[in-house]
Amino acid sequence: MKLGLIGYPIKHSLSPWIHQQFLQQIDRNGTYVIYETKSEQFQETIKKIQEDKLDGFNVTVPYKQTIMTYLDELDPYAAEIGAVNTVVIQNGKWIGYNTDGTGYLTAIESQFPRLFNGEKRVLILGAGGAARGIFYALSRASFHTVDIANRTIEKATDLLPLNITDKVNSRALSFQEAEESVQDYNLIIQTTSVGMKPAVKEQIISLQYVNKDTVVSDIVYQPLMTQFLSEAYQIGASIHQGHTMLLYQAKLAFQLWSEREVTIEPLLTGLEDILKGNE
Ligand code: ATR
Repeated sequence: MKLGLIGYPIKHSLSPWIHQQFLQQIDRNGTYVIYETKSEQFQETIKKIQEDKLDGFNVTVPYKQTIMTYLDELDPYAAEIGAVNTVVIQNGKWIGYNTDGTGYLTAIESQFPRLFNGEKRVLILGAGGAARGIFYALSRASFHTVDIANRTIEKATDLLPLNITDKVNSRALSFQEAEESVQDYNLIIQTTSVGMKPAVKEQIISLQYVNKDTVVSDIVYQPLMTQFLSEAYQIGASIHQGHTMLLYQAKLAFQLWSEREVTIEPLLTGLEDILKGNE
């Protein structure tokens, strides 16, 4: 299989390693090529991808929206989110999907199934591209509340219409309001880049009032144990680390390309070792 990734910067992407593991699982040979592309080279890379006859590719920052104008078909779920992270190429036809939100949902559900029993309350911190997919997926799951807090509160307000159900309640909050009400939530998800290497001492909000039975989740996976997760852990809350979302969104993309089922469990310790080695 011929696969790839377009984005910038992506030199240190872990996706080639992950997809090689999936290829081995299904006993297929293949390549996963990094097409690191600055915006002025975008057209050129698109041409190259066509010439290279790929079976599919991933799309990451900053092209998840740009790629949409190059597609022949768009999955309705990706259309509603307004971003594409996976393109399947079938007989020269480009079909766009988004596996980020479902990847996150699958990751959290597999580690904490208890969050999906009863009417739980969720707080999302951040309102950027990553938050968008996560909010979309979560507002369609069986939660009581999915609130969004953001530094720029208007951006959180802008995401609220993505919740089209009348079952799940959603509000836009300031970080101060979020900080003062962390004890009300069963799941708190950090979706910004705050705390990412090298600024590892940064933390989006204080968790001093968090409950011990709350799950605190961070999509940052470099470092694996962010300052945010570390505070939650010290208080005695449960933590959910960001590399699992990376693995599940990759799994879902790979399954679209290969039409075969793969599992992430054999990759977990290998990926953790790579990430710890990079710290
Ligand atoms: P991504 O696509 O990775 O989510 P993005 O769309 O640029 O990236 O969104 C970045 C998110 O991180 C936003 O919620 C942003 O807050 P603003 O909307 O107020 O800009 C948030 N963010 C980034 N740096 C931040 C910081 N230092 N403090 C608080 N929030 C930050």
